[in-house]
Amino acid sequence: MTSYHPGFGNHVSTEAVPGALPAGRNSPQHVPFGLYAEQLSGSAFTAPRQENRRSWLYRMRPAANHPPFRPYAKPGLLRSTFDEVPPSPNRLRWDPLPMPDTPNDFIDGLTSIAGNDGIGVHLYCANRAMERRAFFNADGELLIVPQQGSLRIVTELGLIDIEPLQIALIPRGVRFRVELPEGEARGYVCENMGLPFRLPDLGPIGANGLANPRDFEAPAAWYEDWDEPTELIQKFEGALWTTTIDHSPFDVVAWHGNLAPYRYDLRRFNTINTVSFDHPDPSIFTVLTSPSETAGTANCDFVIFPPRWMVAEATFRPPWFHRNVMSEYMGLITGAYDAKAGGFLPGGGSLHNRMSGHGPDRASYDAAIAADLRPQRVEDTMAFMFESRDVLRPTRFAMETPLMQLDYDDVWSGFAKAELPK
Ligand SMILES: [Fe+2]
Repeated sequence: MTSYHPGFGNHVSTEAVPGALPAGRNSPQHVPFGLYAEQLSGSAFTAPRQENRRSWLYRMRPAANHPPFRPYAKPGLLRSTFDEVPPSPNRLRWDPLPMPDTPNDFIDGLTSIAGNDGIGVHLYCANRAMERRAFFNADGELLIVPQQGSLRIVTELGLIDIEPLQIALIPRGVRFRVELPEGEARGYVCENMGLPFRLPDLGPIGANGLANPRDFEAPAAWYEDWDEPTELIQKFEGALWTTTIDHSPFDVVAWHGNLAPYRYDLRRFNTINTVSFDHPDPSIFTVLTSPSETAGTANCDFVIFPPRWMVAEATFRPPWFHRNVMSEYMGLITGAYDAKAGGFLPGGGSLHNRMSGHGPDRASYDAAIAADLRPQRVEDTMAFMFESRDVLRPTRFAMETPLMQLDYDDVWSGFAKAELPK
């Protein structure tokens, strides 16, 4: 049974055993039950208060209790440097990854698609739970977007259950393992090496709307007490390293602080849209943003296209044609996306890099200009975008896999030439 503490970025106090959480100080001379106090810092000690994220963990053994890490030998498709092949200016689209035909867990099933210095875009495809192994990422936080199959994410700070249409975020450094209640699972991961994801400013929207803070949930403290060998893998400066400890790393009995994993249900998103004319910029659909040092120019925005009413009058209602200084990786969790009538499949993805022309495919365009513009409900759909200020450079796998749709450019061919008055 999982339980949660609501609120984005809240300072949580939680204990799995009554009396485990020290009162009134972080590091008492004697921690209850002989637990070890340990600070986990997700920001520099001196970061401004509103940026400062840290938690205090009270655990059965210090996290420092481990042998040296060695390079992880199992070759995989996880990448951190995105210079294997020259970045292509072309519009790219891929079919979904098939389930592996051999057992693969969440870590070994990670496949990198594209990235830059600020984010990595990865897919996961897993048909085996992580057993007696745990992972943490020293390079960035992980935004996990399930597309098929639920996940139980066991973290140092507690248990998180998610299913498609929910997301989870695992902060940099937090140890976790992924279990598969349905036996297999597939989805997307945004690895964020930049500033931690936060809720976007709302500007003239006001104090409410989009993703509401109360709907984000951090787990209550939970621990397991076993003394068996457990592999601990970390990603550090782009490479995987492994060691084996003689106990579970999930031995945090109590914690307090504001650095914690969390989950969010995308169905709770309060979608804002026009009630007059024109399709607003898709920034109205931003769930989380990782800002850069340039105001308003994100290292990464996580944007969703949820079910909604479309009521714009005398308007081309789907997203318009555009070219963008930002680079856009899109995925589809369920249903169809209103600018693509076909070919963009749940579990698949597309990449529209800096200044590439894109927009509705011809079938969607033809349907939109012929549409009877009554209020229309867009149902059963959830597409999303990882949008970055820097070009997302595809991996060799992404450029060479047969999953790439070589005819993608054709969706923008065959548009009739506009006829000017004679
Ligand atoms: Fe776009």
